[in-house]
Amino acid sequence: MTNGTAATELAQQLETLRHALRHYAYRYYVLDDPAISDAEYDTLWQRLVALEAAHPELVTPDSPTQRVPGAASDRFAKVQHPAPMLSLSNAVTPEELVAWRDRFLRLLPAGEHERLQYVVEPKIDGLTVVLHYEDGRFVLGATRGDGVVGEDITANLRTVQAVPLRIPVAEDAEVAPPGRLVVRGEAYTAIADFQRFNAEQAETGERTYANPRNFAAGSLRQLDARITAGRPIRLWVYQIVVFEGGDAAAPASQWEALDYLARLGFPVETRRWLFDDFDAVVAHCVAWGEKGRRELPYEADGLVVKVNDFALQNRLGYIGKDPRWAVAYKYAAAEAVTRLLDIRVNVGRTGTLNPYAVLEPVQIGGVTVSAATLHNEDYVRDLDIRVGDMVAVKRAGEVIPQVLRPLVELRTGSEQPWEMPKTCPACGTPVVRLPGEAATYCLNSACPAQLVRGVEHFVGRGAMDIAGFGIRQGELFVSLGYIKDLADIYYLTREKLTGLEGYGDKRIDNLLAAIEGSKQRPPARLLTALGVRGVGEVAAEALMEHFGSIDALAAAAQPELESVPGIGPTLAQAIVDWFGQELNRRVIAKLKAAGVNMAQPRRAAAAQPLAGLTFVITGTLPTLSRDAARDFIKARGGKATDSVSKNTSYLVAGEAPGSKLARAQQLGVPVIDEAGLLALAEQNS
Ligand code: IVH
Repeated sequence: MTNGTAATELAQQLETLRHALRHYAYRYYVLDDPAISDAEYDTLWQRLVALEAAHPELVTPDSPTQRVPGAASDRFAKVQHPAPMLSLSNAVTPEELVAWRDRFLRLLPAGEHERLQYVVEPKIDGLTVVLHYEDGRFVLGATRGDGVVGEDITANLRTVQAVPLRIPVAEDAEVAPPGRLVVRGEAYTAIADFQRFNAEQAETGERTYANPRNFAAGSLRQLDARITAGRPIRLWVYQIVVFEGGDAAAPASQWEALDYLARLGFPVETRRWLFDDFDAVVAHCVAWGEKGRRELPYEADGLVVKVNDFALQNRLGYIGKDPRWAVAYKYAAAEAVTRLLDIRVNVGRTGTLNPYAVLEPVQIGGVTVSAATLHNEDYVRDLDIRVGDMVAVKRAGEVIPQVLRPLVELRTGSEQPWEMPKTCPACGTPVVRLPGEAATYCLNSACPAQLVRGVEHFVGRGAMDIAGFGIRQGELFVSLGYIKDLADIYYLTREKLTGLEGYGDKRIDNLLAAIEGSKQRPPARLLTALGVRGVGEVAAEALMEHFGSIDALAAAAQPELESVPGIGPTLAQAIVDWFGQELNRRVIAKLKAAGVNMAQPRRAAAAQPLAGLTFVITGTLPTLSRDAARDFIKARGGKATDSVSKNTSYLVAGEAPGSKLARAQQLGVPVIDEAGLLALAEQNS
């Protein structure tokens, strides 16, 4: 570069771009409150990538582009923690909580008892991470390890969007970090992300994880950071470990520290409480176990109660590895021990053989559990789970119950090891396990069990949404030979249904009407329903937006498919393969002949009355199902999203609205009911 002014200008331009991108990513990933559209973000991102590619000498390690994983490391280096990463003593009853308080009160003069304050936070069930910042730059990230020495997972943590590479994240933040700041937090995975990931893995025969915690830990301990980069890992930061140098004043209490960390741009859980009355702490801990905990989008095994004042914390000190100033109030795990009566296998929609345990019924967290997943062949073998074993079973949140381990010490000798059947339990075809895959498959595309699952998916919510049609009906009609492929659903007749047990006139009317009604669903729903491997609701929407009809999609070649946002080569290949099969083409032809809608209605611009508006739906609406309301909005040009933010135009609230209502009111987002939504569409059209 010869011209000094131009170089400075360029550097400034780069810094502005980086600043903007950091800010938008923070709004998106940390605050869950996007400030610009994805497309706008992409444009800025591409500009930065292009400028940096042209001027590699100006790339800085804290540029947002540098989250992209580098080369694979072969092992993790050891990191000595700047202070021991302590653990927590536990209390499991209100009495134990009081006993914890009484133990440290004895160490304080009576005059100070009155002034005590407590902070209560969820105890996040994830992987502890220790993040080091020097002059505001992220320089090192480690696992907890044994509390004294951890592993250097910096490369992996750099790929986690919620980990700020530079603090403060916001340029206009009115806080400064000290010269050296080390914080501690918990990396975790949201329950919904975990379930989605596992379902996708199972579908493609790849390894699944037993619970969100193992998933987060496994993802962060990958030797190849490119794998971590694709994983939905989140973070909550909750402790300052080192605060040194610079002019910034150190926070004096836990409550202030959390506020300060949040202002620096760290993700800090807003579900936290400050009390100056210990009875209120106890009451909160008890009550939260009943309700608040179940509403968390992630797994928490309890609450942490901390003495607020740092000076006091220092005076109280530690016993062994546990601080006196904090305690974990743990909820009894939703776990139970019962006998495993049998191991059976069901066949999934894509032909995977899924082993599950038949259990002696047992109460877990107020629900009777009589079956639990065993994931796959390796899971059963690695844990040496045998038929007849007493097993520990866990049920957490909405996660399917799972067998955790056998209680080997209770064995009598009569327990039987299990093996994956050699043939499909539904159709008898020999099964295969492909090299490198965890799943075992039945490859018979005419397998009735796969068809039943396929029908279940086809008629389900998010797909063709046919009321009164579920797996029972699927099993019945497949076993009677009425359904031989998915299109046969539309060829069920009154004659066929009459005389079936439980099918009176009224029920037949309802079922046939529901099937008939489903013919008008948007083609994206039909595409989702067809169950092309990897094509879920989001991909289906994008594809139909681009192609407009199933026919156009069926005729598309791989390159055009890959040009659709969000469609990669694997998906594109799966789509080409699917439409390439004679059997599937016949199904499409039959669906068309039955009058099932195959094309996006071409709406005139004037018929987009909700264009530019973003809606969130909460609670039960009087007539529209959640999916129908979303379709209604999308068909009229509006956007339907899941979380309320400042960018939400309206919250549509029905009966029993959730926490979204409070959030909308807090943000001043207008709240309307179903009638209000219909009126809005009417009025603007
Ligand atoms: S404070 C010295 N707060 O729970 C006190 N820990 O044994 C340090 N954890 O592995 C812990 N959420 O990583 C604290 N809000 C929270 C927490 C939390 C989860 C983890 C922590 C540790 C374990 C305690």
